Amino acid sequence: MQNIVAGNWKMNLNKSEALGLVNQLNILLKENPIQCELVICPPFPWIALLAAELENSPIQLGAQNCAAQVSGAFTGEVSASMLASAGVSYVIIGHSERRALFGDTDAVILEKCKRALEANLNVILCCGESLAERDAGEAIHVVYSQLKAVLDHCKEFNADNLVIAYEPVWAIGTGRTASPEQAAEIHDAIRSYLNQHFGEQTGNAIRLQYGGSCNASNAAGLFAKSNINGGLIGGASLKAEDFLSIARAC
Ligand code: PGA
Repeated sequence: MQNIVAGNWKMNLNKSEALGLVNQLNILLKENPIQCELVICPPFPWIALLAAELENSPIQLGAQNCAAQVSGAFTGEVSASMLASAGVSYVIIGHSERRALFGDTDAVILEKCKRALEANLNVILCCGESLAERDAGEAIHVVYSQLKAVLDHCKEFNADNLVIAYEPVWAIGTGRTASPEQAAEIHDAIRSYLNQHFGEQTGNAIRLQYGGSCNASNAAGLFAKSNINGGLIGGASLKAEDFLSIARAC
């Protein structure tokens, strides 16, 4: 299995900053190639621009979201097929910021996943519990129900088009990372869920990313756990050196 590290730029970086970061990543990767799969997920306006910059680069392009609808009168939305035609190969769906701030319910997330697969995009499906849910001992239950809401109704997923990102909400952007043991406990539970759902061959081949304040100093400890196959990186993906040192730890 090839590990996968993805950078979620969120709503950061203007045009020249975005170009500058990609330029720097390309230079550093040429000097010192890496083994794991690398994806960057910039804001929508830079996607077509960066697709051109990434033509001869090992970095793949991802998007942070896509519409739940196919096409039509949906002002402000961006469809999965538009993203695919612009050179995108991954889309993050179900990020906790989308769930909490933009009304992405399990039902909406399911529709977005279907649109992504119809457009031949690979999905990075996010799940994770809040602090209150963790304190109540509900973490695994919450993650299972988020996964079940999508996987039970979307039969087209397989080990090639699905990555699961476990992102505890209390660790996102807070500087408070899950310990490798805390993360591994949930990753192991996700792996057994996937094995039951897909059968062992597919279940064991689906890559599981950890996300939430992952940085150059804590990445190696997290990635040492057998069911942590990469990371979804927010803040630390905005600096080329930091992002690549996380990828090297993978
Ligand atoms: P963070 O964000 O690395 O800044 O905590 C991770 C994410 O939200 O994907």
